[in-house]
Amino acid sequence: ANIYVFHGPNLNLLGVREPQHYGMQTLAEINQELLEMAKQAGLRAECRQTNHEGDLLDWIQALTSEDFLILNPGAWTHTSYAIRDAISGVKVPAVEVHLSNIHARESFRETSLIAPVCLGQISGLGAASYTLAMRYAINYQIGRSQ
Ligand code: DQA
Repeated sequence: ANIYVFHGPNLNLLGVREPQHYGMQTLAEINQELLEMAKQAGLRAECRQTNHEGDLLDWIQALTSEDFLILNPGAWTHTSYAIRDAISGVKVPAVEVHLSNIHARESFRETSLIAPVCLGQISGLGAASYTLAMRYAINYQIGRSQ
């Protein structure tokens, strides 16, 4: 069982793109911190980013219900029934994360098609959205291995 962190489209631009919404930290820096947290807890984690929706579908389909998924679906949050179906299809426990508060921006961002198939959503806390999700994932994975 592993913890997977998947980042969707445009998140490779973190640190450069709209820092007022997404902060100054790069994706590499965020990933580094998440991997360190998992390592400290004795768990395996892996971080990936893609701008191609089909890649994300393939990656999700390769997960099992023993894994844990931390997912920032980027703009696919608001558009992709396919990603939602993949998560519910493999029954992987998942947490949806967003750097920005999707409920406090343009109205099209308020709807998440993904959140209903996740355990929960963390939105608006910047990079802490990810680290809090990782903390939860670690507790979840340790809890069910006992
Ligand atoms: C985002 C919010 C989305 O609405 C947006 O399309 C992104 C980033 C976030 O992390 O705040 O690409 O998922």
